[in-house]
Amino acid sequence: MNERSEPTNRSSNEIRFPEHFLWGAATAAYQIEGAARDDGRGPSIWDTFSRTPGKVYQGHTGDVACDHYHRYADDVALMAELGLRAYRFSVAWPRIQPDGTGPANPRGLDFYDRLTDTLLDRGIDPIVTLYHWDLPQALGDRGGWTNRDTAEHFATYATAVYARLGDRIDVWTTLNEPWCSAYLGYANGLHAPGEQDPAAAFTAVHHLLLGHGLAARALRSAGARSVGVTVNPADVRPADPQSAADAAAVRLVDGLHNRIFLDPLLAGGYPDDVREHVARIVEPTFIRDGDEKLIAAPIDLLGINYYAPSYVAGRPDGAGNGAYPGTEGAVHFLPPAGPLTDMGWMIEPAGLTRLLERIAADYPGVPLLITENGAAFPDKPGADSPDGPTQVIDADRIAYLDGHLRAAHEAIARGVDLRGYLVWSFLDNFEWAEGYRKRFGIVHVDYLTQRRTPKASARWYQEVISRNGL
Ligand code: FCB
Repeated sequence: MNERSEPTNRSSNEIRFPEHFLWGAATAAYQIEGAARDDGRGPSIWDTFSRTPGKVYQGHTGDVACDHYHRYADDVALMAELGLRAYRFSVAWPRIQPDGTGPANPRGLDFYDRLTDTLLDRGIDPIVTLYHWDLPQALGDRGGWTNRDTAEHFATYATAVYARLGDRIDVWTTLNEPWCSAYLGYANGLHAPGEQDPAAAFTAVHHLLLGHGLAARALRSAGARSVGVTVNPADVRPADPQSAADAAAVRLVDGLHNRIFLDPLLAGGYPDDVREHVARIVEPTFIRDGDEKLIAAPIDLLGINYYAPSYVAGRPDGAGNGAYPGTEGAVHFLPPAGPLTDMGWMIEPAGLTRLLERIAADYPGVPLLITENGAAFPDKPGADSPDGPTQVIDADRIAYLDGHLRAAHEAIARGVDLRGYLVWSFLDNFEWAEGYRKRFGIVHVDYLTQRRTPKASARWYQEVISRNGL
């Protein structure tokens, strides 16, 4: 990606992004590919979890999803039609190593090879995520991310993918949202593997970071030019800006959500307050000499996923939140208020500006890329007409995206080195525990026919890209 240049036209409602700003969309393997048993793919922890009664809405699974595995060429053609310049996809580890270890499965690599070539033929930059939550079940059986070996295996897997695609892909990211993998996977159990064990969650945090460090080192020594990681930092706000107790709650939650990842990645190691908090829950013997140095090796790009802020109050009777071990008896998480998306998430674009500015200030020197931002809304397709496909007029999504792009632009205007924006998501897809009932796509998917129909937001985004602004 190119150097940043100054945004223009700030005085009017019309805004223009820097030259070479990267516009695109994102997806993830388990959410769209389907083809769960094709070409030697092994089971992942999400295959198991989605089959566990009560874990995913109506027992939905990723078995078929958007059938992107078979329809990728048409999907890429649609991306090109919409003018996307970049496409962030994830590689399914269980396609490459069905058991999580051992020799790479060439047929699994072939798929990403075809996808990459198709993207490049269409002039779309591929951006790879190596881990978007679909851990091979065989590694899950050995403790998943609570097992230090998983971090080592991750580096081996990353090397195998790089060996096949490294000649054509420039931007490599290791993990997607380790916060979700660790806390939703092991603390509140909302995501695979569905454990509820705070000590396991903190162990997983460290091993995920270690996995990043080992994979980043392996990618770099194999010749990768741009290596990064995607996090989902939270914009944590006090219920009462004047309250010292609320400020303390913000500090605690910020530590558990943001600094526990960002400090080791970008500031040399875990912060003392977080270390002390974790030590009250589990003795951190899993942190070994040299780990922090490895994790802190410089990266070329930090991916930011942003959806909503969260508001907290410091209260001794606070129920806390299972996703933040140790917040019970200290923090009250306010229920989301104001306009909400279909996920029940607050719509607050200013949170994105605050977050980007804060990260740029606290962790200077690393270029940022918005690797996900978007919203689920209960899209209501209109009736099919004989001469046209179903229409989806998703004005609420357009408003959400417009607001967040303006917020991102504001951060650039204030000096943040933001290189691009990838909307979540290209297609409606399997929204984890919510199954297919939550739709995030700018392209509507009819799951019965697999027909794709660009929503109004897709046409709007096409226009944004072609003008490089709003
Ligand atoms: C993020 C995930 C992505 C998608 C969006 C809505 O946390 O990275 O896969 O589910 O949320």
